[in-house]
Amino acid sequence: MFRSVISGVGHYVPPHVVTNDDLSKLMDTNDAWIQERTGIKERRFVEKGSDDTVSTMGTKAARIAIANAGLKPDDIDFIIFATLSPDYYFPGPGVMVQDQLGIAEIGALDVRNQCSGFVYALSVADQYIKTGMYQNILVIGSEIHSHGLDISDRGRGVSVIFGDGAGAAVVSVGDSKSDRGILSTHMHSEGKHAKELALLSPNTLDWIPEIIKRNDPEDVSYFPHMNGNFVFKHAVTRFAEVIMEALEANKMQVSDIDMLIPHQANLRISQFIQQKMGLEEGKVYNNIMRYGNTTAASIPIALSEALLEGKIKKGDLVCLAAFGSGFTWASALIRW
Ligand code: UT7
Repeated sequence: MFRSVISGVGHYVPPHVVTNDDLSKLMDTNDAWIQERTGIKERRFVEKGSDDTVSTMGTKAARIAIANAGLKPDDIDFIIFATLSPDYYFPGPGVMVQDQLGIAEIGALDVRNQCSGFVYALSVADQYIKTGMYQNILVIGSEIHSHGLDISDRGRGVSVIFGDGAGAAVVSVGDSKSDRGILSTHMHSEGKHAKELALLSPNTLDWIPEIIKRNDPEDVSYFPHMNGNFVFKHAVTRFAEVIMEALEANKMQVSDIDMLIPHQANLRISQFIQQKMGLEEGKVYNNIMRYGNTTAASIPIALSEALLEGKIKKGDLVCLAAFGSGFTWASALIRW
């Protein structure tokens, strides 16, 4: 068996900053409510007319990750792209990255696991590397939420938390004699709660020509729906469970974690997990204040920033953990 290591990480966020005060001009909300309930101060939105799409942002993050790994795009031999907001209904954005990077006709896989998408994608990459199938796999999480949010009083409970951005990592074959690399990954789902956090349209249960004929402005199924309190309660339980599962699988304890990078869903969720698990101050990385919740992109963006800020050092034990729509939740334990 080979050992997988994360050899490079990168991120890209669109330049347009949207503050809470900007949103309060468009709907009945305010900076105090958003900061108190979520910790978010601002987020990035792709501006109308910009060239940024989910795939091009993913490619920008990928180019940085590839360079950080000391590689060239041609060295990549597989692509895994996690998103809930693909450029198109089909095909998925993985193939667009292959084209945009101008590389050979390598395989490209799309992952549909929302907030847990990046950790699920990392887990797939880990298995391919371990078995010797590939040498350097590009794993991307990229999202554009801004174009599809209900920016009105009706949608305020959901639309204030989401933002746009992309992050990427290169997973490569490491030294099998070293203890550095991905130690384990753990994944779960509970589909009975699928509709508690979902975007239900467009779908294949409805007939597109009939939807077009209805042209109903009151149809909210084209906007994301979230039962916020319900999701929050499940999130805090599942985050803690899946982090403990990763530690137990490796015979480690909470005190062994040097840096926890949780999916950036809500600062209160991160703080709750930190307290519940007894993690020391400074051992949980948060950047939701600046970017909001970028679903599949949030972990690679946070990982990239934590590395740039020098908060992760060689040999550190890093835990990634996510929970979200599906419900799905997942963790990965990495010796950096
Ligand atoms: O990333 C995937 C996983 N997602 C999550 O983990 C998100 C989990 N859920 C949450 O983060 C929180 O539930 C939210 C931030 C979405 C909402 O916070 P909350 O503390 O659960 O608020 P709430 O929905 O219980 O609403 C409290 C009040 C309500 O008013 P009343 O009924 O008490 O009069 C809402 O109408 O706040 C009102 N409200 C707002 N007020 C100002 C809801 N949205 C807003 C808003 N601005 N944007």
